[in-house]
Amino acid sequence: MPHTASVKLDDKEFPLPVMQGSEGELAIDTRKLRTETGYICYDQGYGNTGSCESKVTFLDGDNGILRYRGYPIEQLAEKSDFVETAYLVIYGELPTPAQRKAFGLLLRQNAAVETQMQRIFEGFPVEAPPMAMLTSIVASMASHHSELATNNFEKDLQNFDLAAAMAISKTRTIAAMIYRYQKGKPYIYPKQDLPFCENFLHMMFSEPYKEYIAEPEVARALNLLLLLHADHEQNCSTSTVRTVGSSAANLFTSIAAGICALSGPLHGGANGAVLQMLQTIHDEGDDGTRFIAAAKSGSKSNRLMGFGHAVYRNFDPRARIIGKAAEDVLKKLGIKDPLLDIARNLEQATLKDDYFVSRKLYPNVDFYSGIIMRALGIPTNMFTVLFAVGRSPGWIANWHEVASNAKGRIYRPRQIYVGHTKRDYVPIDQRA
Ligand code: ACO
Repeated sequence: MPHTASVKLDDKEFPLPVMQGSEGELAIDTRKLRTETGYICYDQGYGNTGSCESKVTFLDGDNGILRYRGYPIEQLAEKSDFVETAYLVIYGELPTPAQRKAFGLLLRQNAAVETQMQRIFEGFPVEAPPMAMLTSIVASMASHHSELATNNFEKDLQNFDLAAAMAISKTRTIAAMIYRYQKGKPYIYPKQDLPFCENFLHMMFSEPYKEYIAEPEVARALNLLLLLHADHEQNCSTSTVRTVGSSAANLFTSIAAGICALSGPLHGGANGAVLQMLQTIHDEGDDGTRFIAAAKSGSKSNRLMGFGHAVYRNFDPRARIIGKAAEDVLKKLGIKDPLLDIARNLEQATLKDDYFVSRKLYPNVDFYSGIIMRALGIPTNMFTVLFAVGRSPGWIANWHEVASNAKGRIYRPRQIYVGHTKRDYVPIDQRA
């Protein structure tokens, strides 16, 4: 590895330090470039910009590798569960039995949503987009628990364990309550004795006199789904959390901003769009040819949902795991879902199509996650909300890195201004 790089402007050379990550990732440190040369780096959308150093997740998009804190996603998916993985993502190590127990207890003790906070729900139209509700209600946690959300890194870090447990556990309860509210059903409160995912399903699907008891396969599938979403490096929502957090905003506010970012159809909102696409293909009796042809037109609005990824230029390893899990869950639950067959056919067709092959467009995690959620009885408009619950550990871990980095600075990129140059104000009666 070279130890220095340089930028040459005309005849003058400016040396720049080189950095190397623990997995050999290389970077040129351009922080001083502007002060020394007057130039900034232009990188629209930050596709080639390292905005931070992070110890949370390693992702190699060219080789389809994803690891949380060093552990391969495949091993975690097979052997761990969501709560253990959440602990790993947040605290950096797999928990000891005592740590696992204490963390589980903290989640259980902080699952309920306060009565005052419940009233916020009533202010929303019943048909409000669930992600819009989730954003506002999670943001309101900063007001209901203002002692944990002081917007002072030092103080907020002192209460981090409690705030983190609340952010995961209450976000799940809020998610279930949004579902109940929209259905016009009474809320079902969390039960202390249920594990995290079973409790989630209980809060969604139990009725006042009829308790929903999750089949082990169902709870396992939900665990897997949340675990696979627990973190994903500097994606749009996580970098949003870091950006907001860098202003010393508290954990709840920063996470609420992440939820906003996640709601877009090019990010977390894609899973619902995938299912709509598969359903349309099914209803039209098509085999997907029309969608594939439209996607190849190059128009952004016709993209094949669930395909392509900002960083993977190979199979998204989560898509492999989730595609297999979708098949297993459906088989175990005795469900025959024609959308799974359509998804498999679509995947096969794209693997032979030069448009997709040459652009390295493969199914991403969202391509199969909707099929699992549908099998669990979760409606399409709740898919992204579940994604948000799953991603909460990653957002928390990244916020913690920002808050605890004494040398960190506020996220404040620059721009190339391409608007009007200076011009003088014209009074309104003189304008044409
Ligand atoms: N269907 C058809 N063509 C596509 C697709 C797609 N899904 N994705 C990318 N392309 C094309 C682009 O048009 C571009 O073609 P060109 O070279 O002829 O201009 C080429 O592939 C490269 O695409 P980029 O725009 O560079 O990809 P980018 O990294 O900007 O976008 C994104 C990544 C947003 C995920 C994109 O692939 C997409 O829109 N996919 C569909 C939405 C989706 O599934 N999002 C979920 C992502 S996973 C997640 O957030 C959990």
